[in-house]
Amino acid sequence: MNSLVTYQVQDSLALIGLARPPVNALGQPLRAALLQACEQADADPSVRAIVIYGTNGLFCAGADITEFGSPASFAAPDLPGLLVRLTAIDKPLVAAIGKLALGGGLELALACGYRIGEPKTRVGLPEINLGLLPGAGGTQRLPRLVGVQAALEMMISGAPMAANRALELGILDRLADSAEQLLQSACGYAHELIANHAPARPSEPFADPAKGLPADFFERYCLEQEPRWKSRLAPRLVFSAVQAACLLPLQQGLERELALFKQAEASRQSEALRHVFFAEREAGKIPGIDPSTALRPIAKVAVIGAGTMGGGIAMNFANAGIPVVLLERQGDALDRGLAHIRKTYAISLKRGKLTEAQLEQRMSLLSGTLEYADLADADLVIEAVFEQLSIKQEVFRQLDSVCKPGAILATNTSSLDVDQIAAVTARPQDVIGLHFFSPANVMRLLEVVKARETSAQVLATTLKMGRTIGKIPVVSGVCFGFIGNRMLEPYAREAHRLVLEGATPAQVDGVLTGLDLNMGVFSMLDLAGIDVNFLVRDANRAAIAHDDSYCRLGDELYSLGRYGQKTARGFYQYEGRERHNDYEVVALSERLAGELHVSRRPIEDAEIHARCLFMLINEGIQLLDEGIALRAGDIDLVWINGYGFPAHLGGPMFYAQQYGLDKVLAGIQHYRDTLGEYGRMWFTPAPLLERLVAAGKTTIERL
Ligand code: CAA
Repeated sequence: MNSLVTYQVQDSLALIGLARPPVNALGQPLRAALLQACEQADADPSVRAIVIYGTNGLFCAGADITEFGSPASFAAPDLPGLLVRLTAIDKPLVAAIGKLALGGGLELALACGYRIGEPKTRVGLPEINLGLLPGAGGTQRLPRLVGVQAALEMMISGAPMAANRALELGILDRLADSAEQLLQSACGYAHELIANHAPARPSEPFADPAKGLPADFFERYCLEQEPRWKSRLAPRLVFSAVQAACLLPLQQGLERELALFKQAEASRQSEALRHVFFAEREAGKIPGIDPSTALRPIAKVAVIGAGTMGGGIAMNFANAGIPVVLLERQGDALDRGLAHIRKTYAISLKRGKLTEAQLEQRMSLLSGTLEYADLADADLVIEAVFEQLSIKQEVFRQLDSVCKPGAILATNTSSLDVDQIAAVTARPQDVIGLHFFSPANVMRLLEVVKARETSAQVLATTLKMGRTIGKIPVVSGVCFGFIGNRMLEPYAREAHRLVLEGATPAQVDGVLTGLDLNMGVFSMLDLAGIDVNFLVRDANRAAIAHDDSYCRLGDELYSLGRYGQKTARGFYQYEGRERHNDYEVVALSERLAGELHVSRRPIEDAEIHARCLFMLINEGIQLLDEGIALRAGDIDLVWINGYGFPAHLGGPMFYAQQYGLDKVLAGIQHYRDTLGEYGRMWFTPAPLLERLVAAGKTTIERL
C-alpha cells in the first residue's frame, strides 16, 4: 500500500486509514490508493467488514480543490466512480468520521453503509461556497437518507453541522464517547454488524425522496430563496440536482448530478470562488516572516473606548473566550458601553443564536475600568477612541507608560498614519494598526496595518489573533485609507461625478447592485452617514484640493442637513426602511453641474460600470505596485469582506483579470481622452497596469 493510505486486516476487519495530511483531500493519488485498498479488502475472504478512517484523526475535507479546472479533477479513478464502486462492495463499510467530513469527504461517508462520529465531529456539504454542488453522489444520496428539505438546507447553506444534529438526522448512526475512542468504537460497530448479518447497505429511509413532499414544494422553495441567490449559479444547480433526485432513479440522478457539477466547475463563478478560498489562506502568509516565528501569548486584552466600535471589538474577544477590559474616561460612558454589549448579546439570545449561559459567560469575561493602570497586565491593547491624530497620540503616550514590556499596542484607525502614532512611544516595534469594520462584532474583515517599525513577531501574533477571533486579517502598509478606503475614494468619486454629468443615484446604484454588490455607493453613504463622510473628507481636504468638484454634491447635502438614513433624507428619501428617489437631488445636481460647467447628458449603464469599476481596479493595482498590498488576492479579500463586493466575482482584482486587463486599460485610456480636463486629471492608468498589459500578462502581480 502506498503511503497515502494505511491498510491492516485485524480480526475480520480491514482498516483503511486515509493518510494525506493536512485534510485528506481526495486528489487523484489518494483516490487511487483508496480504490486499491478497497479492492483488496473486497477480494480478501477473511475480511468481513471495512472501516475507513483518517489516520491523523480528521476524516476528510473533500475533493482536492487544487485539481478543479484541471484534467486531474476527473483523472481515474474519479471520485463519483470510486464511490459507486464502494457502494457495490458486498460487505459493510463503516466510515469513522473524526473531526470533519466535508464535501467529497461526506460523500465518501455516504457511500459507506454505516457512519460513526465523535462528539466534535462536524459534517457538511460546503461546495456551494466554491460555486459548486456536491458532485460525487451527495445530491442524490443525502435526500434519500435525510429527506429533501434537510438535504437542500444543508447544501444551500453550505454550513457544517454538529455531531448531535447529524445523529438526529441519521447522517451519523452513532457517536463514540470521544475522539480517542472513535476507531475502537468503529471496529466494535463493524463487529456488531457482522454478528447481526447486517446488509452491506441498510435500506434508505427516504428511498423515494419525492414521496410526501407538497406538490408545490419546489416552486415555493424557489420563490422564497431565489431573490437571495442574485445571479449565483451554484444554488440553482444544487436545486436542479435535488429535483433530479426526486424525479429520477439513482443511477440517472447521479448522471444528471455529474453533468451539473461539470457545468459548475467550468463556470467563472466557481473559478472566482476557488480563487477566494486560496486567497484567504494565502493572506495569513507574510513574505519574509518565518511561519515558525514564536508568537506572543494573548491571554488578556484591553480596549480603549467603550463606544459602538470599542464595544464591538471587545465582543470579538469575549466570544473567543478571551477576557477583555474596557477603558473609558467617564463611568457613565463605561456603563452605557457595557449595557449596549449586553443588549446586543440579548438580541442573539432572542434569535436563538446564543444560550442564556453563553451570554452570561461572555459578559463575565468583560470588565470595565477608568484607570490606565489597570491595563498594565494586558497582552494586547486596542485603542478605539475618536479618529483624530493628537487624541490617539495622547492615548499611546499613556499606554507607553503603563503597559508591560512586550504588550502589543494597536490603534483602530481607518485613515490615520500609524507611523506617527507609533512615533510617540518608546516601543514602535510593538505598535500596529487594526482597522475593524463596523459593526465590529459582525464584519469579518480586519485590516492589519504594518507600520514602518512593527516587528515580525507582532505582525505574526496579530494575524493569528485575528483568525482566533474569526476575522479575515489582511495586511496593509501605511497610506491614507489603507487598502479599502483608499480604493473607495476613486470609485465613489466616479459615482458622484456621473450624477453631476446626468446619471441619477438610483441609476448608478442599480448598475452596481446589478453586479451583485451588496449596496451601491449612494445607499452605502446614506447608511454610513453623509455627515460622517463629510467630516472625514473635510479633515483631508488638502489631499484632494486640486479638484474637489466631484465632492460638491455630498458637501451640499451635508449643509442641507441631509445626513442619509438617520435624517430620512440623503441621496434618497426614506419612509421607514423604504427608499425613494428624490427629485431634489436631481435638481441639485443640475444646479451644481451648471456652476461647475459640467455638461449634462444621458449616461449609459455601461459607462457607469466602466468608470466606477475601472477606477476601483486601477487604484488597487497602484496599491500593489506601491507595496501597500502584498498581493492582488489580499485586495480582493478586503473588498469582498469589507465592502460587499460579491465573492462569486472573486473581488475587484480577479474581476479585472476575468474581464481582461487590456480592456480595463483601454477603458481608462478612453475616458482619459474623452472626458476633457476631468478625464486628463483623474484617468491616469496605474503604471503597473500598463506594464502588465505591455508584457501580455493576464494576471495581476508585481512586475
Ligand atoms: N482541497 C485542497 N486543499 C485543501 C482542502 C481541499 N478540500 N481543504 C483544505 N485544504 C488545504 C488548505 O488550502 C490549506 O493549505 P495550506 O496550508 O497550503 O494553505 C490546508 O489544507 C489547511 O487548511 P486551512 O488553513 O483552511 O485549515 P483549517 O484547519 O482552518 O480548516 C478546513 C480546515 C475546515 C477543512 C478548511 O480548509 C476547509 O473548509 N476546506 C474546504 C472544504 C471544502 O470546501 N470541501 C469541499 C471540496 S469540493 C468537493 O468536495 C466537491 C465534490 O463534491 C466532489
